[in-house]
Amino acid sequence: MFADADGELRGTVTQNSLQHVLDHYNAGDWRADRALITGDLIQDDSAGAYERFRKLLLPLNIRMHCVPGNHDVRDLMRPVCSRPPFSYCAREEVNNWLLLGLDSCVTGEAGGEVTRDEIERFEKIVSESRAKHILVAVHHPPVPLGSAWLDTVKLKNGQELLESLQQAGRVRLLVFGHVHQEYDSEHLGIRVLGTPSTCRQFTPGSDDFDVDDRPPAYRRIELFADGSIEEELIWVE
Ligand SMILES: [Fe+2]
Repeated sequence: MFADADGELRGTVTQNSLQHVLDHYNAGDWRADRALITGDLIQDDSAGAYERFRKLLLPLNIRMHCVPGNHDVRDLMRPVCSRPPFSYCAREEVNNWLLLGLDSCVTGEAGGEVTRDEIERFEKIVSESRAKHILVAVHHPPVPLGSAWLDTVKLKNGQELLESLQQAGRVRLLVFGHVHQEYDSEHLGIRVLGTPSTCRQFTPGSDDFDVDDRPPAYRRIELFADGSIEEELIWVE
């Protein structure tokens, strides 16, 4: 979002693109209990953009878990995204699942790193939780995607994070944003899903920055009490 309703990113009015995605969701009969919003909410470093984001998403009338991305400004995002129904890098236990958002941002850098303190916060929350299954949401991908330029701005310590998640023994799913394209794989026994943007997408496999013509998207994820997962990527044509 931009503070300005007409704010454009790479030729797309971002508010219109997000509204298009929300309209698609509202027109269907699939209903979510929660939304996971995996960072890069704004582009112009303004509080007004966060208020615009909040106003646009509020009608969903569900809890929304947010984590910051490299384009976010923590001091502006945290107050807006900590007010219910939004939460910021929070935990929630529901239906045998622990949902947990982690901060992977490094101020002034496009790439990410989950600090030792943040990994210890994760370990403490897990040790206190009786949930049998865990979903972790984080902005940066913990693994390379095979796109040279993007792989320079992934999570620096992705392997360390994955090993910590594996040691917890109950992490079934990690979801991330940042890469503006589809990703679905398994690492150390953990399903790892990347979801395209609600705005423009990056060309998969490209060595240099490149934007392709794919439409906006979102992903439906169903978490079952036995730990199984069903998901579907929705391209909003
Ligand atoms: Fe990002």
